[in-house]
Amino acid sequence: MNSDIQSIVLSEKQIAEKVEKAAKWLDAKFEGTQSVPLMISVLKGSVMFFCDLVRAMDTPVQIDFMTVSSYGSSSESSGMQRIVMDLAASVEGRDVVLVEDIVDSGNTLVKMRDLISGRGAKSFTVVTLFDKPSRRTVNVSADYSCFEIGNEFIVGYGLDYAQKYRNLPYVGILKREIYEK
Ligand code: IMP
Ligand code: MG
Repeated sequence: MNSDIQSIVLSEKQIAEKVEKAAKWLDAKFEGTQSVPLMISVLKGSVMFFCDLVRAMDTPVQIDFMTVSSYGSSSESSGMQRIVMDLAASVEGRDVVLVEDIVDSGNTLVKMRDLISGRGAKSFTVVTLFDKPSRRTVNVSADYSCFEIGNEFIVGYGLDYAQKYRNLPYVGILKREIYEK
């Protein structure tokens, strides 16, 4: 896998620092809140970040998972979202924290936001590991973003190309020749 990576964007150590900061931000946000926030991992991309993030937090939280598919196997967003696996928990009246791997076009986030607010969540907070603001096609943004990147295609630490590279422990830019072949 390593030989398909052009350069490293975030090392394991840098990821751990970003996770720590995001956890502190969430702890501060929910300090003194009586209700237990429901943290939602948008699978599969956010799973590594999610597991590290919830363990770095002090706030007692509940966790849940949802799978949406938007990309198929290409490196370009189709703009189409489909719920592959829905939440087990009800979000009604809950403080919901959505954890994303990356906000790219913003299509996935809009879909998730509309769905979760439509189901009556009390509040909706988005934490993302990566943000590609220059790629946005819809007007939406995360409340907390760990790292902004340009138009590169990145993989590792949950992020895939054609379902591959998710288990790389760091995040790197994929060599162009890999996805342009
Ligand atoms: P959006 O709906 O266009 O914002 O796309 C969000 C989803 O696209 C993410 O959850 C990722 O699965 C995928 N994605 C966007 N950019 C990248 C990337 O650079 N590497 C891997 N996956 C990406
Ligand atoms: Mg993906």
